[in-house]
Amino acid sequence: MINQNMIISGSFGLDHLELVGREAPEPGHGEVLVRVEAVSLNRRDVLLAQGVYNPKQKLPIVPCSDGAGTIAALGPGCTRFSIGDRVVIHMFPGWLAGEPDRDKLATGLGGPGGDGTLRQLMVIREDSVVALPQSISIEAAATLPCAALTAWSAIVENGNTRAGDSVLIQGTGGVSLFALQFAKMCGAHVVATTSSAAKAERLKALGADAVVNYRTEHNWASMARDLAGGRIDLIVDVGGAETLDAGLRVIRPGGTIALVGVLSGAKAEINLPLALMRQVRLQGVTCGPRESLEAMLRAIALHGIDPVIDSRFPLAEARNAFVRMAESAHVGKIIVLPH
Ligand SMILES: NC(=O)c1ccc[n+]([C@@H]2O[C@H](COP(=O)([O-])OP(=O)(O)OC[C@H]3O[C@@H](n4cnc5c(N)ncnc54)[C@H](OP(=O)(O)O)[C@@H]3O)[C@@H](O)[C@H]2O)c1
Repeated sequence: MINQNMIISGSFGLDHLELVGREAPEPGHGEVLVRVEAVSLNRRDVLLAQGVYNPKQKLPIVPCSDGAGTIAALGPGCTRFSIGDRVVIHMFPGWLAGEPDRDKLATGLGGPGGDGTLRQLMVIREDSVVALPQSISIEAAATLPCAALTAWSAIVENGNTRAGDSVLIQGTGGVSLFALQFAKMCGAHVVATTSSAAKAERLKALGADAVVNYRTEHNWASMARDLAGGRIDLIVDVGGAETLDAGLRVIRPGGTIALVGVLSGAKAEINLPLALMRQVRLQGVTCGPRESLEAMLRAIALHGIDPVIDSRFPLAEARNAFVRMAESAHVGKIIVLPH
């Protein structure tokens, strides 16, 4: 069976994304073969291909952490699935439950854990895939493992968002739109930032209660606080260098900043007393364990949450998908269809 893989070949750069045919892998004991039917991109995948995420990453590697599909074969000893079952692949195959540790985090697909999901067939431990509820399509499921689970951890599991809280989200990327959807699910008031008027309209259509342009409005953070009625309980920070200090100035005393991303730079100058004198919680967030993926799938099915899909590309054109994300032309999730 031909198994097409998109790889980052000998060196970094989006021009080095290359389609190669490989032998179809065979599942060993406790493993399943997944026919990968949809993959979604995350910013991390673009940064990995550009050599920014981990300049020491060994190449070649199949990028991407997110995928969903059907069970195509079972290795000896598999008991949880049948051929044809619809499944989503967990981004950290070794992080099944509880708090993260170094070993669990070293299993991230399309990164420290080795080859990722941007291929037609993939062997993985059966305990690292999760069966899909009937109402969640394979394409929707492929958007969930990294961005949605990170947003879920930020809003629900770490953020403990309650009805009536005010949440600030930043931009229209994958994590932020899931954060918007989960915050609304919890009954929160959501203020969003974006850099364009057209994207502001999309945010309002998706349920944002108020939107501020962070490029044209120098005081975007205090404007966001005003729009939130003077109180922001939780900020999902994806900006990093350009946004963290501004967020610290407007979060309420005792509020939480979920540190998720570093889109504008990884080193931030922040005014520390704003955190310690006001008992602000700075909570780093890294995706989540399989048990949280399962809880999130139940909530998504129960609340009928539809991931925002920006665009779809065939596997042979995956490079164009990476370019679209690199240019931040997207709103929501970019999908690659391997078959
Ligand atoms: N900790 C984790 O486990 C985890 C998991 C997933 C992602 N992340 C990180 O979270 C960040 C977002 O990831 P993603 O996949 O959602 O990315 P994405 O889809 O590429 O989102 C990019 C969007 O963020 C907005 N943005 C860019 N710079 C900004 C800034 N300075 N201030 C405010 N908004 C800004 C822009 O929105 P507009 O175009 O609307 O302005 C841009 O389109 C990345 O840094 C990623 O590495 C971390």
